[in-house]
Amino acid sequence: MTFSQRHFLGIEGLSRDELLFVLNTAESFREISEREVKKVPTLRGKTIINLFYESSTRTRSSFEIAAKRLSADAINISASTSSVNKGETLMDTARNLCAMRPAALVLRHPASGAPHLLARLNQCPVINAGDGTHEHPTQALLDVMTIREHLGDIYGKTVAIVGDILHSRVARSNILALTTLGAQVRLIGPPTLLPPEFSRWGVERHTDLRAGLAGVDAIMMLRLQRERQTRNFFPSLDEYARRFCLTVEALKEAKPNVIILHPGPMNRGVEIDSRVADGPYSVILEQVTNGVAVRMAVLYLLTTQERLATQDQSVAHGQAVGQEGSDVQAEPSAWDEHTVPKRAVGQ
Ligand code: NCD
Repeated sequence: MTFSQRHFLGIEGLSRDELLFVLNTAESFREISEREVKKVPTLRGKTIINLFYESSTRTRSSFEIAAKRLSADAINISASTSSVNKGETLMDTARNLCAMRPAALVLRHPASGAPHLLARLNQCPVINAGDGTHEHPTQALLDVMTIREHLGDIYGKTVAIVGDILHSRVARSNILALTTLGAQVRLIGPPTLLPPEFSRWGVERHTDLRAGLAGVDAIMMLRLQRERQTRNFFPSLDEYARRFCLTVEALKEAKPNVIILHPGPMNRGVEIDSRVADGPYSVILEQVTNGVAVRMAVLYLLTTQERLATQDQSVAHGQAVGQEGSDVQAEPSAWDEHTVPKRAVGQ
């Protein structure tokens, strides 16, 4: 299989096979970050531009590190230091950046749909690094990758997503990814932050933390996105914390081997107690590690399509081997001379 998307704008619209293909490719990349020399020549000569219109620590550095580990040149532009300050529109900024022939443009923007607009320019692949309250597809992939690493097959697992679902692009992308891969998703939060329309994805809604956590395999905590909240969705922070902060006591409702995820940044004492965030069930820093592998995979798949098309032809000409037994495999080890074993998938 090849990944035929030109842009990476969201989880919406990706098939189960496409998701598994990107996840498997990411898993094959993970090992590069464990080497002493964490660099392969795969994207040598290519330029990746990170265009960030919102604050970011993890996502931005993760894309930058991913590009550099693939030997691409990574350029970071943030709105506060760019010509946006001088009144330039997003489209004009993008046209100018594309005129310098980058291999991909990574965009984070406060407006939902901004990367889709850039994709319509169709000058280079666009990767969504978080658009408004809409999607954050690479975050969902790294979350799913971390859950798979700990719990194996996603199919049949129950995952609780807790907190400010209404404003969370992380929740939306995760709901799509997890349900596509066959997980049961429970959304937990105050009724004002639980959009009823999300029920169309077949998720459960809970307004009681402990009831919602009963028997779950994984818990994904979300930050209150106060910068996006246009009115008071709950009486006070204190009240919210009393009902929805993940404490050691609340955790007892979940399965004994439960894992705790958080996309960061965390507000300790608001949505998550420090004893949980730093405790034995937390996989929060593993998520960050996996984020680099996921972004390496996405950059690789989007910027090497010509080569992939050529490989496709060689498959058609009977020159490829070892594909039997699985319909979804990680891209073979084209990124360096080390052979990455081809794995059968079945997740
Ligand atoms: C998330 C985001 O920006 O959407 N963080 C991230 O990318 N690591 C979640 C958040 O800001 O709360």
